[in-house]
Amino acid sequence: MRTPFIAGNWKMNKTADEAVAFVREVRHALNQIEGVDIAFCPPYLAIPALADALKGTKIGLGAQNMYFEESGAYTGELAPSMLTPFCQYVILGHSERRAYFGETDEGVNKKIRAALKHGLTPIVCVGESLEQNEAGETHDFVSGQVRAAFAGFTAVEMAICVIAYEPIWAIGTGRTATAAQAGQIIGVTVRGTVASMFGEETAQQVRIQYGGSVKPGNAAELMGHPDIDGALVGGASLQPSFVELVRNSVV
Ligand code: 13P
Repeated sequence: MRTPFIAGNWKMNKTADEAVAFVREVRHALNQIEGVDIAFCPPYLAIPALADALKGTKIGLGAQNMYFEESGAYTGELAPSMLTPFCQYVILGHSERRAYFGETDEGVNKKIRAALKHGLTPIVCVGESLEQNEAGETHDFVSGQVRAAFAGFTAVEMAICVIAYEPIWAIGTGRTATAAQAGQIIGVTVRGTVASMFGEETAQQVRIQYGGSVKPGNAAELMGHPDIDGALVGGASLQPSFVELVRNSVV
C-alpha cells in the first residue's frame, strides 16, 4: 500500500520570514492529518529556518534542485551534503528547470544518483508540453524521460524515488488534467515504464504524484484514482487553504 504524498513546491516565492510565518499558521492543522506524507519545498534560503519551524511535526522538507558534484568550482550551485542537515527530499528535473535553466535528462540522472547517495529522496519530474500532447506524443516522450532519468539504477534504488507527472500545459494554468487522463498516463506510461525497466513489483512500490493546477476543489477527485499517489502542488501550496487540499487528498 503506497502512502499518498503531497509536496508543496513554492518555486521562487516567500522570503525566509514569510515562509516561517506561513508554516506557523498551517503546521498544527497539517500535522493532525493522518494517512498522508506532507512536505514543503521552499527556496533554498528559507530551508534552515523552516527546518526549525517544522521540528516536532511530521512535515518534511525538500529543496527544489541541487547539483550532483560534492563540492568545487560550481558558482551558484548547492551540493547534496549542504541539504542533508535540513532536507529529506529534493525535486529534480522540474519542467521549469528543464525549460529555463538547461536541465537535461543526463543531468537529472546524475542528480538522482547523488541524491540517493546522500540519503535524499528525489522527486523526479516528467511531463509533456501542450504541443507534444496535441501531437499524440505524450506516451513516447514521458516514457523516454522516465527511462533516461532512471537508467542504470537498481530496483531497490528505484523504489525509493518519487516521480511527479506534471503535464506542462497544466502547470500554473488552471487547466487540470482530469483524474482519468492523469491516471492513465501515470498508470500506463509512467508506472508501465518503471515496470518494464525494474519489474512489476518495484513499479507497484514507486509513488507517482500528479502536478498541475491541483487545488482544494479537485484534489479529492485526482487522488481518488488508484494510480495517483499524491500531488506536487505549486500555487495552491502557498495559501492557508493548502490544509484543506491535503485533507481532501486523503481517500
Ligand atoms: P501549479 O500547482 O501552480 O500548477 O504548479 C505545479 C507545479 O509545477 C508543481 O511543481
